[in-house]
Amino acid sequence: MTIFIPEDKVLEIKNAADIVEIVSENVLLKKTGKNYVGLCPFHTEKTPSFTVSPQKQIFYCFGCAAGGNIFSFSMKRDGIPFPEAARILAAQYGVHIPAQNMSIGQEQRRSEREDLLVVNRHAMDFFHKKLLDSPSGKRAVSYLEKRGINNETIETFGLGYAPEGWNNIVDLFLRKKISLDVVEKAGLIVKKEKRSNFYDRFRNRIIFPIFNLNNHLIGFGGRVMNDEKPKYLNSPETPIYNKRRSLYGLHLAKQKCRENKTVYIVEGYFDLLTLYQNGIQNSVATLGTSLTPEHVQILRSLIGTDGSVILVFDSDDAGMKAALRSIGIFLNAGIDARIMVLPSGHDPDSYILEFGQESFLDLAKKAQGLMSFLINVSIDKHGLSVEGKIRVLSEVREALVSIDDSVARSLYIKDFSERIGIEETAVLEKVRELSFRSRGSTQRKNFSDNDPVPKHNRAGSAEEDKGNTFHGKWARLEWQVVSMMLQFPPILSEIGNRDILDYFEDNRLKAIGQLLLSQKDRSNINLVDVINLIKDKGQKSIVASMAIVENEWDYDGCLNILARFESIRSKKEKTLINKIKEAEENNDFELLVKLLKKKQKMAVLVEKKKMALLK
Ligand code: GTP
Ligand code: MN
Repeated sequence: MTIFIPEDKVLEIKNAADIVEIVSENVLLKKTGKNYVGLCPFHTEKTPSFTVSPQKQIFYCFGCAAGGNIFSFSMKRDGIPFPEAARILAAQYGVHIPAQNMSIGQEQRRSEREDLLVVNRHAMDFFHKKLLDSPSGKRAVSYLEKRGINNETIETFGLGYAPEGWNNIVDLFLRKKISLDVVEKAGLIVKKEKRSNFYDRFRNRIIFPIFNLNNHLIGFGGRVMNDEKPKYLNSPETPIYNKRRSLYGLHLAKQKCRENKTVYIVEGYFDLLTLYQNGIQNSVATLGTSLTPEHVQILRSLIGTDGSVILVFDSDDAGMKAALRSIGIFLNAGIDARIMVLPSGHDPDSYILEFGQESFLDLAKKAQGLMSFLINVSIDKHGLSVEGKIRVLSEVREALVSIDDSVARSLYIKDFSERIGIEETAVLEKVRELSFRSRGSTQRKNFSDNDPVPKHNRAGSAEEDKGNTFHGKWARLEWQVVSMMLQFPPILSEIGNRDILDYFEDNRLKAIGQLLLSQKDRSNINLVDVINLIKDKGQKSIVASMAIVENEWDYDGCLNILARFESIRSKKEKTLINKIKEAEENNDFELLVKLLKKKQKMAVLVEKKKMALLK
C-alpha cells in the first residue's frame, strides 16, 4: 500500500517546514555560527556532533554519519516510510494533501499508525466522558478524589474511566463503523479464543492515557479501584506504542525539563500525578518497567548533557536494583544521575501527600550519585569485614563492568578500591574477569528479554557504518572534488571536460559526481533536491556531510584542487609502473596480473583523453 505524495505537495511541505524546529522536538540544539549542534538522537554520544543547517535545511551527524533533510530525519526518527513522514509533516505544517491524490480506497490508504491514533482518541474521549458523566463514573471520581487528585489534574491528563462490562469499547467502534481489527491492533480489545468476536481489554478501571513527546496518544494504562489483580493493566505494544521509548507524563514534562535541566523519574502513575499537581512538573514515570537507553536518550534531549536525572525510589532495595541496572546506561550516555530514596513505606505519591512538596525537594537535594549510592548501600548491607568486602566487591563490580568508557571505569575503580580498602589491582582483576566472561550478556542486560535491541545503530546500517570518513590522501581528494562540485557548480563543466570522475576509486563518490554532472540545469543545483534524488542511504549521508562543511570556493581554488588531483594521479601511475617492475622481478604472477589490469584501465583513460584533445 504505497501512497503517492504529489511532487508539488512535497515542495510545499519543504517550504513550510523548518528542520531546526523539527529536530528540536528531539534534540536540544545550540547555535554555533551558521549551524546548530546537539547530541545525535541516532547514536549515543557525549559531545555533540549532530549538526543542523537551517540554510540548507539538512542535518548531518559527524559521529554516526546519519544525514539528510526533514523527511529523512522524520523517517529515521520514527522508523516510518517516506509517504508517512511526508503526511505527518504535512499535517504538522498545515499542508493539505487532497484525498483523491493519495491512492485507491480512502480508508485503506490512511496509514495504520494514523488509524491507531484516531482509534485511541475516540477511546480516550469515551473513557473521559464516562468518568465525568456516567453514574458508574462517580465511583471512579471519588476514588481519584480520595487519592488527592483534583479536577484540574483529571483534565490536564485526560484521565478516564472504563466502565464495567465486556463490550463498551467493542460497541463504541461498531457504532462508529471502525474496523474492530484496527481496534484490536490498538490493544483496546482482545479476540476471544477460537471465536471471531472481541471483548474489551480495560474494564472497570481508572484510565490513564499515555502520550509521546509529540502529544500523540499512543496507549493507555488502567488501574482497578480495589484489591483485584492485576492492579495495573497497560496497552500491549502496538505499532505506535513502544514501551522502551514511552514515559508517562513526558508530553507535559518536556518544557519544564528543558527549563530546569533536571528530570525526576518515578515508578508509578499516581506518583507522577501527585508530583505534577504539587508543582514538580519536570517528572516522568517509567510505569514499572526498567529504564532503557532509549528513555535516557529522550530525556537527555530535553535536559541536555549537563542536565541531571533524579531517580526516585521507595526503598534502598528497589533503588539498589535500579541503580545496578541503569548505572551503565547513564554513564554511557554521559548523564549525571542521582538516586533519592524515600523513607521506608513511602512512595513519591504518599510522601508528598503526607509531608508536602518542600520536604520532597529537600530530600532531593540529598540525592547521591548512582555509584556512591551503590557502594554505600552495599557496605551498609554487608559491612567491611573480610567477608563483607568480598560481597560488596561482587555486588558492585557488575556495575563497574557496565561502564563502557575505560577512563571513567578506572576512575570509579580507583575510588571504589580506596573506599573499601582493597588493592586497586585486585578490584581491576575482578572486574576484568567478569567483563571477559560476560561482556556480551552484560551489555544486553539493559534490554528486556524479548526485545533485544542491538546497541545503537548497529543493525541495518552497515552501509552507513562503512563511514563517510575518507582516509588517505587520495580518498580525501576525491571527497573534496565532489564537495566542490556540490557547492560550486561553475566547476562542473571543467570536471566533465577533464574526465576527472573516471579516475575515482571510491564508487560512492563517483556515483554522486556522475549524478551532479548529469543534472540538466547545472547552474541551479539544490542540495536538498540532490539528497532526494539519491536512493542509496550511504550516498545520501555523504552528500549531507559535504553540505554541512562550509567552504568558500572560487574558481582558482577549484582549479588548484583539480591540478593536485591530476598530479597525484600521474604519480600514482608512476608508482604503478614501479610496482609492476617489482612484481616482475619477484615473479609474483598474481600481483602482476592485478597491476597490469589496473595499468590497462588507466591507459584507456589516458588514451581517451588524448583523443579528445586532438579533436
Ligand atoms: P498505587 O498503588 O496506585 O499508588 O500504585 P503504585 O504506583 O504505588 O504501585 P506500585 O509501586 O506497586 O507500582 C509502580 C508502577 O508499576 C505502577 O504505577 C504501574 O505502572 C506498575 N505496576 C504495578 N502493578 C502492576 C501490575 O499489576 N501490572 C502492570 N502491568 N504494571 C504494574
Ligand atoms: Mn503508590
